[in-house]
Amino acid sequence: MSELKHIEQLNLVDLLKEIAGKYGVNAVFSTSLSWEDQIITHHIFSLNLPIRIFTLDTGRLFPETYSLLNSTRERYHKEIEVYFPNHVNLQEMLTQKGPISFYETIENRKECCFLRKVEPLNRALEGVDCWITGLRSEHSENRKELPISEWDEQRKLYKVNPLSNWTLTEVKKEIEKYNIPYNVLHDKGFVSIGCQPCTRAIKEGEDFRAGRWWWESNDKKECGLHN
Ligand code: ADX
Ligand code: SF4
Repeated sequence: MSELKHIEQLNLVDLLKEIAGKYGVNAVFSTSLSWEDQIITHHIFSLNLPIRIFTLDTGRLFPETYSLLNSTRERYHKEIEVYFPNHVNLQEMLTQKGPISFYETIENRKECCFLRKVEPLNRALEGVDCWITGLRSEHSENRKELPISEWDEQRKLYKVNPLSNWTLTEVKKEIEKYNIPYNVLHDKGFVSIGCQPCTRAIKEGEDFRAGRWWWESNDKKECGLHN
């Protein structure tokens, strides 16, 4: 049984406190600045917990997302660590394949996601014992069985998804309750937000992640951050 099994009964604030007490600065939270992530950031910063928060700046994010990164720093007077892609590898890919190679083939798309997201994530998780995410099981079929805590054998760390069982309605309520800053794109039909060229707004009735890599079939729609 996972040594974190007991946290599954706790509410979000107590869960974060428990992780902070157990792992201190060896616990990190990865934020994409989504609705979900802003809730977790709010509580970590408001409670002054030692859990470090980082974001992966792919270099292709929406201006609205950069703007939110800035306003979040200002609101809480705290730092969010930024991990950026390795410029040498990226220069090589851009020189050989151009700036929008990800639309051409799935291999190209995965290469871009690897260089801009996965490799920086690997660096961000070096030496980390506990990785907190804003994943929810409602996001997609692939995430349906998502546990609140799991041992990640590949990375040798505990992965914690405290909002796994939350509904989108609960997420929105929490944002409102604490007046948490959120991405203005969420009000324009963008529910799941990633890089600008690979994200579109969704129409009513479409799946939560229908706007991500919309030209690919559903089973391919993961960028390699979460396996
Ligand atoms: S993704 O795999 O499709 O890109 P998604 O956007 O659903 O992921 O976000 C799920 C969780 O992955 C977020 O709550 C966050 O913990 C992490 N994540 C996704 N994108 C980033 C990013 N750019 N920087 C940091 N964490 C991220
Ligand atoms: Fe590249 Fe698109 Fe993946 Fe962003 S989401 S890293 S732009 S392929």
